[in-house]
This record gives sequence, C-alpha cells and structure tokens, in this order.
Amino acid sequence: MKLVMIGTGYVGLVTGTCFADSGNDVACVDVDAEKIRRLNLGEIPIYEPGLVELVVRNTAAGRLKFTTSAAEVVPKAKCVFLAVGTPQRNDGSADLKVFFSALESIAPHLSHDAVVVIKSTVPVGTNAEVARRLKALTGRDVDVASNPEFLKEGCAIDDFTKPDRVVVGVSRPEVGTVLHELYKPFLRTEHPFLVMNLESSEMTKYVANCLLATKISFINEMANICEKVGADINHVRKGIGHDQRIGFAFLFPGVGYGGSCFPKDVRALINVADQNGIAPRILRSVDEVNEAQKEVIFQKLTNHFHGNFAGKTVAIWGLAFKPRTDDIREAPSLVLIDRLLTAGAKVRAHDPVAMENVRKLYGDKIVFSTTPYDTLEGADALAIVTEWNEFRNPDFDTIREKLSSPVIFDGRNLFNPEKMQELGFHYSGIGLESQPKS
Ligand SMILES: NC(=O)c1ccc[n+]([C@@H]2O[C@H](COP(=O)([O-])OP(=O)(O)OC[C@H]3O[C@@H](n4cnc5c(N)ncnc54)[C@H](O)[C@@H]3O)[C@@H](O)[C@H]2O)c1
Repeated sequence: MKLVMIGTGYVGLVTGTCFADSGNDVACVDVDAEKIRRLNLGEIPIYEPGLVELVVRNTAAGRLKFTTSAAEVVPKAKCVFLAVGTPQRNDGSADLKVFFSALESIAPHLSHDAVVVIKSTVPVGTNAEVARRLKALTGRDVDVASNPEFLKEGCAIDDFTKPDRVVVGVSRPEVGTVLHELYKPFLRTEHPFLVMNLESSEMTKYVANCLLATKISFINEMANICEKVGADINHVRKGIGHDQRIGFAFLFPGVGYGGSCFPKDVRALINVADQNGIAPRILRSVDEVNEAQKEVIFQKLTNHFHGNFAGKTVAIWGLAFKPRTDDIREAPSLVLIDRLLTAGAKVRAHDPVAMENVRKLYGDKIVFSTTPYDTLEGADALAIVTEWNEFRNPDFDTIREKLSSPVIFDGRNLFNPEKMQELGFHYSGIGLESQPKS
C-alpha cells in the first residue's frame, strides 16, 4: 500500500519504517529540512535501538523515502498518517496549531479515496473536527481514522511490530478494513485489532497513559510514606505485586515520570474533563504528586548538605527521562540540575545517549563526562536519576575512590541498601527501610 507519514519524529519515523519493512511503499514528510537531509544520508536524528538498520535496509530497497514536500507524495497515497507533535499549552490543554497546519498542508493533495489517519495524540472530538475541516477544505467527505500509538521510546520497534493491540476509531467500517489489511502482518499472534468510534479511540489513548501515570504517582506516594514509617517499598511492592489483581508492572518507585507523553496527556485530559464539567480529582493529584516527586533527590541532597551547596559538586548518572532513549522532554534530571545550579552547586553529568540534548540547554554550565566514573571525580555526592542498565552493576571500589565522600542518592533503587552500607556508602534510595540519617 502507498503510505505517507506527515511528521518524522519518534512516532512517524518508527511507524513509517515498520510499515515499509512489511512491504509498503512509504514516504516520510517533515517540515524540518535538516532532519530530512540527514535521513536521506542514512543518519537517524533520534536514538532508538534497532531503528538505523531498518531505515537503511528499507531505504536501500526503495520502499522508504524522506522528503519535505507533501505535495509531491500525498496525491499517490492511500493512507496519509498525521504524526506531528501535540504539545501542551500553558493551561495544560493540547496545542493543535501545528497539527491543523499539517492537515491544511495535505488537504489539497489528497486523492479521492485517501484515508487520513490520525496517529498524533489528540483530545476527544479532534478527529470529528478533522473530518469537518477536510470537508471545508476539499469540498467532499474524506475518510478519517483515529489510530493512537502506544509504542514506548527505547522499545519502539518491538512495540510497533508486536503490539498488545491495535486500536482504530472509524466512522465507517470499510475504513477499519483498510487499516486491518495494513496491520495484519503485525497481528499474526492473534493480538486484537479493536475497531470503535472515533471518540472512544481518542479517549483510549489518554486513559491508557493516565492509568500508567497514576500507577507511578501512586507507588511514589506509597514509597514516601514507607520511608517515614520504617517500611520498605521493595518489600511492600512484592507483597502487593503477587496479588494477580495488582501485578508488578509500572509499580517501581522513582523520581517521577517525564517524557513527551505522560505529563502532557495527563494535563490534556484534566483540561478535557474541566471543559466538560467533570472534576478530574484523581488526575490532578497524579500530576501534583509527580511534580513533587521530581524534587525528591534535591530535597535529600539539601538535607544532606544542610542547605549549603557552596563549593559542593554533585555527579548525576542518567539524564534521559528513561533508559534507551535520548529524549529529555520533562525529564526529572532537568529539575534536579536547575535546583542544584540555583542553589550554587557544581554539576557533573553522564548519560549514555542524552548528553548532547542536555548540552543544548545548559551549555558549559555543567560538566559532561564520557564515562560514568569520570563524573565522580571530586564530587561530594552521586545522584542516580535514570536506570540505564550499565549503572546496575558498577565497580563500587572505583566509585568510592573517585567520590570525595561516599554518598549516593539513588532515585531508582538500583542497589541493595545493606550491601551499600557494608561497602561504606551513605546510601539513600526511594522508600527504603534503612535510610541513613544525614
Ligand atoms: N514519542 C512517543 O513516545 C509517543 C508515543 C505515542 C504517541 N505519541 C504522540 O505522537 C505524536 C508525535 O509525537 P513525537 O514524539 O513523534 O513528536 P516529535 O516532536 O518527535 O515529532 C514530530 C515531527 O513533526 C514534524 N512536523 C511539525 N509540523 C509538521 C508539518 N506541518 N508537516 C510535516 N512535519 C511536521 C516536526 O518537525 C517533528 O519532526 C504526539 O501527538 C505524541 O503525543 C508519542
């Protein structure tokens, strides 16, 4: 099938590449000419494991191409996917300016039987508005489908090619059939292809993200209580997780969620609820708890240094909002860096792939190190913010030697607190039983 992706970011590039890999003829369009230039040279502008090989292979096979010109490729396409960003406005609502301008850019070029497929996460009612605008722009009814994306950065290829389910919202069953054909190669293990109305599909995406965000804020709040009452969240987590009604997924305490989806999607649904006269009490708390949780490591450091950061250096391991991505949007590391710099501390940082993105924000205000151990040189404490695999089994002797005092604040509970104490570290995690007295 001939397909066009409008927007070649995390979602558009992965979706377009995976569809090309299953034999479709895919053109990826972006307004960012530099991005398209690099993609045409085989350079991938984002870090996503496994993606570069797929892009190179499918480009070489002639099934995948990159262009800045929607006018050139849209007329031949059966499905035109919109995968542009839908960031949040100051009031928390989704900003659809870029989204609708992308829609306007394709409208004049759509073939008479094209389906416009909305992959961007958009508030309920947007797909219906897309259909109305397309009718106004083209003078005819254009088929619109909602097809929210559930991939996770860092495992995007696997998530896309082996989805737990594919959700499609349509206003005519025939449109669902077109998309089913497209997704069939990825559903061979009988994972469901769920067809529903446009509104239910739009809502499904928000509900999924809001529930996952709720689990994270819930376990973080429980961890904070544990820490005060002598309980250990790791024991509690196991104690609840074996209950099949509860399970283990997304119940790891940490420094709060970040990224390009959870924060903005929780706030966008709060806004939708407000607009519809429903008080979103749970969602508001989820957001509030998360914002507070991003401060936890800084508060622990403040207690440790008695509020005096003058002459202190803090080493940070992990800058990306989660492992296996270079995405730093709404990353908890940024809150920690801001607080430390404002308090007068020096910051040294390492991340396996996200340092370039952080450097664009802070320049030489912080020192970036190419290895995790180099960050520790003369630092008064280590703060672990992202749970990259390579941080899980470090050489503790080297850490102790390089730090000027053996202090670790672990925002991801990577290590065993008893063992850390035996090794002579002042070690503090999130919600653990024996937090050292600062
Ligand atoms: N990133 C994720 O993990 C993820 C997962 C599921 C859903 N989503 C949703 O998917 C959507 C896209 O997210 P993303 O992370 O891929 O965004 P992104 O910012 O990485 O990419 C968006 C791309 O769209 C391009 N663009 C903007 N206007 C354009 C136009 N008129 N024509 C062509 N290209 C244009 C931008 O230059 C950019 O490259 C958002 O709604 C997001 O909420 C994201």
